[in-house]
Amino acid sequence: MEDFRLVCNDKLDEDLNQEKSLRPSRFNEFIGQKKITDNLAVFIQSAKMRKQPLDHVLLAGPPGLGKTTLAFIIANELEVNIKATSAPVIDKAGDLASILTSLEENDVLFVDEIHRLSPAIEEILYPAMEDGHIDILVGQGIGAKTIKLNLSPFTLIGATTRTGLLTSALRDRFGIPLRLDYYDTDDLKGIARRSSRILGIGLDDDAALEIARRSRRTPRIVNRLLKRITDFTTVKGMSRIDLQMTKFSLEKLDIDEIGLDEMDRKILHTIIDKYEGGPVGIKTIAISVGEEVDTLEDYYEPFLVQIGLLKRTPRGRMATRRAYDHLGLKYENKDEDLQENLFNNPEDGLS
Ligand SMILES: Nc1ncnc2c1ncn2[C@@H]1O[C@H](COP(=O)(O)OP(=O)(O)O)[C@@H](O)[C@H]1O
Ligand SMILES: [Mg+2]
Repeated sequence: MEDFRLVCNDKLDEDLNQEKSLRPSRFNEFIGQKKITDNLAVFIQSAKMRKQPLDHVLLAGPPGLGKTTLAFIIANELEVNIKATSAPVIDKAGDLASILTSLEENDVLFVDEIHRLSPAIEEILYPAMEDGHIDILVGQGIGAKTIKLNLSPFTLIGATTRTGLLTSALRDRFGIPLRLDYYDTDDLKGIARRSSRILGIGLDDDAALEIARRSRRTPRIVNRLLKRITDFTTVKGMSRIDLQMTKFSLEKLDIDEIGLDEMDRKILHTIIDKYEGGPVGIKTIAISVGEEVDTLEDYYEPFLVQIGLLKRTPRGRMATRRAYDHLGLKYENKDEDLQENLFNNPEDGLS
């Protein structure tokens, strides 16, 4: 995967370099999400047969599920160049214009965090996506005029953790919208096995299962945990990860039996201990736990909701009965209707 160039983005650069060794570069190494990859393979084959660019692709889903990985796989399978950037670093129209005009026929442009594009930049993207040209304003005041620049046909791949924040105008311009889901245990086990082979460490089957169960159903976490468990195992003088070593390491890392980390538990404890189980606004939670609202919404919340520990209501977040059980706390069987009338705690309100 050395054949792509990165466009002015340190964060993405670092992200790609760090994970490069474990990142699959072809569909056949990409585990799980079968429906998505099967369909994509067809669309890609068709585009190649027609010698046309692949239609624009939108990849949505929580962090660490393989969006960036898929974008690079798509370019590899298409056998075209990929340029990667991230929406927050494109702050001038000229930035985007220069990236777009540098693309060669059927190349891929990958824009990470695409929900964070400014409206002015989005305006440039529309005609580029639809008609293959951009309109650039040259000169100032009375002498200003727009010139139309034709682009080579290209594929835009956008990645986002939050489709809800995308304007519908932008969303509608993607011919291939895809949503990545949390992984099942078998696929996570498969990812742990594959990564252990690359890292050159043995991995027992029951250890792989344990890692899979405690990795928030997320490939990136599988890899992160595997690397740390590898450290503990190596220092012990062992060349194979077993169940005991896995449990020992995960305890050291403060990862509990269902994969929650310290921050997950802090969030749940805040809602339960300070706000009687909720509802409580996300900003209030963020201040209490000392974390960014964005990080809570992108990363922590989706998983807690997914495993049924947290509920999003119009009035704010609530801890579920399962959350109380998991933390070993007594659940007050509150009448929820009554509670909603008594507490007027508006979403995002700083009560
Ligand atoms: N389906 C998969 N099979 C194997 N490894 C995967 C898969 N999806 C993700 N990974 C691993 O997880 C890491 C994080 O994936 P990434 O594409 O960066 O996620 P995202 O862009 O959605 O945050 C990658 O480096 C890769 O090693
Ligand atoms: Mg990514």
